[in-house]
Amino acid sequence: MSFEIVPLGQTLGAEIKGLDLTQKLDTETLAAVRAAWLEHLVLLFRGQSLNDEKLVAFSKQFGELDSVPTWDQFHSPGHAQVLVISNVIEAGKAIGVLGDGEAAWHTDMSYIERPPTASILHAHEIPDTGGDTSWINMYAVLDAVPPELRAEIEGLELNHDATHDSSATLRPGLDAVADVSRMPGARHPIIRRHPESGRPALYFGRRLNAYVVGMEIEQSEALLDRLWTYCSEDKFIFCHQWQLGDVVMWDNRCTMHRRGSFDPAQRRIMHRTEIIGEKPSAA
Ligand code: SIN
Repeated sequence: MSFEIVPLGQTLGAEIKGLDLTQKLDTETLAAVRAAWLEHLVLLFRGQSLNDEKLVAFSKQFGELDSVPTWDQFHSPGHAQVLVISNVIEAGKAIGVLGDGEAAWHTDMSYIERPPTASILHAHEIPDTGGDTSWINMYAVLDAVPPELRAEIEGLELNHDATHDSSATLRPGLDAVADVSRMPGARHPIIRRHPESGRPALYFGRRLNAYVVGMEIEQSEALLDRLWTYCSEDKFIFCHQWQLGDVVMWDNRCTMHRRGSFDPAQRRIMHRTEIIGEKPSAA
């Protein structure tokens, strides 16, 4: 199978042209797609038409799938490994998560011990405007952190809050906690070594309720605020305007992403799979 790689953003993102994802990738093509993904961090495949079986089959070529148990009422019916991201309400009930507001910068499921390696998102219905998704290159962000600040964060761990999602909604079955130093969640190194590329990247989850382990809360907040200022450089960001049928696959170990808000009167339905990852290790 042959395909073309067209870079999209300045420091991340590429479109893969010429592949039909309903077909199993042969060994050579799979290795080449994987290499392109490690290089470009976010891959876009346009014009795909994957039902849930096909989305799962495509995703499984990259590893074992997670079933996101904290959101099990939002799985696509009959597909425990497919999470619905949507603002659509049917019979008075939301069919998916994240609504129509902004989903703030985050890394998927960083609040668990083994956060996903990759996320794969397929556009089923999209609004006329808005709801764009952006990714940021966290290798590049770390490279932009001045040496003195980098020295300050070497060896530190961040606690990743499990209680709220990226739309600042309390997850079902969890209680809000006021003290950030006591948030349930997982602790991971702030500077993470990517297990495949070997490169160090800044590893953040959500800014909300993040906490630098062992610090006074004020000191932790100030340090995180300083670090987050490096996450706003346009050149590190790739913004994607969705088209129907798009499939985007990204690397959660070295990127963060955010989703813009959109008109609540419009429908947006996306189906997502997650590849189970490893416990992050320090760089
Ligand atoms: C997500 O945060 O995983 C969802 C992004 C999107 O809905 O575009």
